[in-house]
Amino acid sequence: MLRISAARKRRTCRVDILLPAPICSTAVFSQGENASDTTGGASVSIYPSGIRSASETMTGLKQSIIKGDIMPVHDREILTPHGVCHLTEAEVTVTLPGLCREYTFVHISDLHISASDAGDSDEEKERAACSEKFWRTQGCITCGRGGDEYVMTPLEANETVAERIREISPDMVFLTGDVVNYASLSSLRRAKEYIDSLGCGCIFAPGNHDAVPDAMPDEARRLAAELAGGDPEFQILSLSGFDIAAIDDSDIKISNRQLHRMQEQIKAKRPAILLLHVPLQAPAARAPVLEKWGPDWMIGEEQQCENNRLFLKLINDNKDVVRAVFAGHVHIATGDDEMHDGGIVQYTAAPCFTGFLRIIRVKGA
Ligand SMILES: [Fe+2]
Repeated sequence: MLRISAARKRRTCRVDILLPAPICSTAVFSQGENASDTTGGASVSIYPSGIRSASETMTGLKQSIIKGDIMPVHDREILTPHGVCHLTEAEVTVTLPGLCREYTFVHISDLHISASDAGDSDEEKERAACSEKFWRTQGCITCGRGGDEYVMTPLEANETVAERIREISPDMVFLTGDVVNYASLSSLRRAKEYIDSLGCGCIFAPGNHDAVPDAMPDEARRLAAELAGGDPEFQILSLSGFDIAAIDDSDIKISNRQLHRMQEQIKAKRPAILLLHVPLQAPAARAPVLEKWGPDWMIGEEQQCENNRLFLKLINDNKDVVRAVFAGHVHIATGDDEMHDGGIVQYTAAPCFTGFLRIIRVKGA
């Protein structure tokens, strides 16, 4: 089953980024995600089909080295055509009273896929290459290769994570937005191919980078509609014993309908896992997010609309119903669990192209 939605509310802007001419002059980034520089010399290539060997070893369980993150993280070695790379594989358990069977989900976020095809214009190819080149400097996986180090392209890194997901074979993937860096036809196609390749269902909370501008060609709109779920504003997937709700909060605003639907969920006391792109304000995440991005990157900050604050309070006050929140956007992996007094149970993800994925076990209490 594929459940993925197009962005409902849009908030992208075109900003100049400083890249060596003539490689590229502009790229689309969301507010606050403007680049300052990138390194030269990296070619953009498409990852060969699959990983050459499934050889891997668990090199040890450790407490997270990611700022603000309290959950255990596995450093997982995977052999790729470029040598051994390391995925960062977090693992969390969500308990739900009365659950009859166990579920396994994988949470990934912020793939920022930037792809071009042979038929694209030179401008489109340059734009995709430029974006790949930028994100390659933002923490892509590094492989050892006979003493050399090879920094994967984001497409390669995302594909390496996909290979691991296929091996895990989860019940479903939670994808919390920014699947593309900007909504080109080629990037949307590549995003759909990526999701289809995972071999399981996917539920998607759109990100600010997933916006499809009105000027996009019909084929892109059709593709976006094909990818879209029935109700991007508030998707509900009902499983035995609980719901998964995916909300489009990519414009950092909770709508009246979203607030009302969540109030209904609480009133019904139906356990739920909530997926967002923009995370809720939470203790462990707040300090690193403020330091990295600034004050308007989480739902519920003081300067935001009242619905945001009401939504945050609703989730905070009803942890018995909303058992966990998974989000992206901030590009930092954090975990707020029951140890944080009065806080929500929320986990944010580092970008998929940095080799980050989170395994979620949902078990009966
Ligand atoms: Fe992102």
